[in-house]
This record gives sequence, structure tokens and C-alpha cells, in this order.
Amino acid sequence: MARSTSYFLVISAAVLLPSACILAQGPQGNAGRGEKLFNELRCSTCHSVRGAGGASAPALGPKAGQTYTPNTLAGSMWSHVTKMWEAMKTAGISRPKITEQQAADLFVYFGGAAGSDKPGNAAQGRKVFEAKLCASCHDDSYQAPDLTRLAGNVSAYSMVQSLWEHGEGMLARMVSRNTAWQTMTAAEMGHIIAYLNSKK
Ligand code: HEC
Ligand code: HEC
Repeated sequence: MARSTSYFLVISAAVLLPSACILAQGPQGNAGRGEKLFNELRCSTCHSVRGAGGASAPALGPKAGQTYTPNTLAGSMWSHVTKMWEAMKTAGISRPKITEQQAADLFVYFGGAAGSDKPGNAAQGRKVFEAKLCASCHDDSYQAPDLTRLAGNVSAYSMVQSLWEHGEGMLARMVSRNTAWQTMTAAEMGHIIAYLNSKK
């Protein structure tokens, strides 16, 4: 009995450890703080959450039949951010910086407490990284910061933080290189995160 238990532990550690390394979860969110932020950062001017807030932009949170996970949030933000920023500019609302912790708080408030992501696949992530043109800049340190130093610390929430902190510079570089902003599904986001965490 003791013996089979220790086998079980050894096997589950072997199975769990590699995926734990690839899937950095990021911090735990808090819904109360998320609600406060949603109003303070003025997201509520345009978006609603469970009926509360503005109507000029899509309601946030799980859509019917959807499993809402951190990658859903990060993927949809990366996909829609350029139009969102135009709307913010028109409305005279300044773009906030959002920390990794704040992204986690917003996620839980939007209704994602129950949803978690399956680990992405690093090899597939590399393919997405090329297909979405990330590699065309980030594999060249003259074009964009080297992302290998982020390895081990990338989560869906840190990707949200990077977007609000560095997205403007990234967009400017894309415009100057005639590169279009790319959209990303939640699954693609998960693969990219796995790839960035695995980079040596
Ligand atoms: C001035 C209005 C405005 C403000 C303020 C605003 N957004 Fe948006 N947001 C938009 C619009 C418009 C879109 C959809 C863009 C598109 O169609 O591509 C969007 C898209 C999004 C999406 C993707 C939604 C989806 O269903 O795919 C998320 C997530 C999001 N916003 C989060 C936020 C958060 C968090 C804040 C506050 C920090 C915020 N937004 C502030 C206008 C706004
Ligand atoms: C046209 C060039 C270009 C493309 C394409 C591009 N980036 Fe970037 N990226 C940049 C630049 C430039 C910065 C730094 C911007 C700044 O700090 O102002 C940056 C910053 C970042 C950061 C923040 C790095 C940090 O130090 O925290 C991340 C993460 C990132 N990019 C990921 C991606 C991903 C994922 C893709 C593909 C979906 C992508 N980038 C596509 C140029 C690019």
C-alpha cells in the first residue's frame, strides 16, 4: 500500500511538474477589487458586467455556452484592443496601465472564478508566434525586446499587463513596418504563453 502510494506520487509529480512549469497561473483575483477597478478605470462607461454599466461596447464575462477562462479574457483583449483604444480616444478616456494583479481582479469580477485553462503546448505556441508575426519582431532584438527573459513568469494576466503597458509601442512599430495587428483565440493565447514560458 505504502509502496503503491509512493509510486503514485512519483508518477503524478512527473506528470504534473512539466505542465506546472509551462502554465504560470499568475496571481489570485478578487471580485470586489475587480468591480472597483472596473468603475475607477472607466471600463464601465462602455461595457457592462451582468447588466451594470454602459452599452456602447460588448458586455464582458462569459457568453452563453462559453467556458470563460483567463485566456479568454487575454485573447479577446489582444484581439480587440486597437478598436477599443480608438473608442477610448474618441470618448476622451485615458488608457490605464493594468497590472497583472489588476487583470486577475477584473477577470474574477467578470465572472471567471470557475474557469481555468488547460496548459498550452509550447511547440504549437512557436507556430502561432510565427503565424501571428510576433517572431518577425521579437526574434530580432533591434526590432523588439527579447521575450526570453519573461520565461517562467508569463500568465494570461501578465499578457494583459503587457498589452496595456507596451501595446502602444508595439502598435507604433507595427504601423511603421506595415504589419497589421493580429487577433488571437483563447487557445492560441494559451499556446503562446506556453511557448514564452518554455523559451531558453
Ligand atoms: C470608450 C469605450 C471603452 C472603454 C472605456 C473600454 N472599452 Fe473595452 N472595448 C470597447 C470596444 C468598442 C470594444 C470592441 C472592439 C472591437 O469591436 O474590436 C472593446 C472590447 C473589449 C474587450 C473584448 C470583448 C470581447 O467580447 O471580445 C475586453 C475584454 C475589454 N474591452 C475590456 C475592457 C476593460 C477591462 C476596460 C477598462 C480598463 C475597457 N475595456 C474600457 C470600448 C471600450
Ligand atoms: C511590429 C513589431 C512587433 C510585432 C509584430 C509584435 N511585437 Fe510585441 N513588442 C514590440 C515592441 C516594439 C515592444 C515594446 C513596446 C514598448 O515597450 O513600448 C513589444 C512588447 C511586447 C511585450 C512586452 C514585453 C515586456 O517587456 O514586458 C510582449 C509580451 C509582446 N510584445 C508580445 C508579442 C506577441 C505575443 C506578439 C504576436 C501576437 C507580438 N508581440 C508582436 C514589437 C512587436
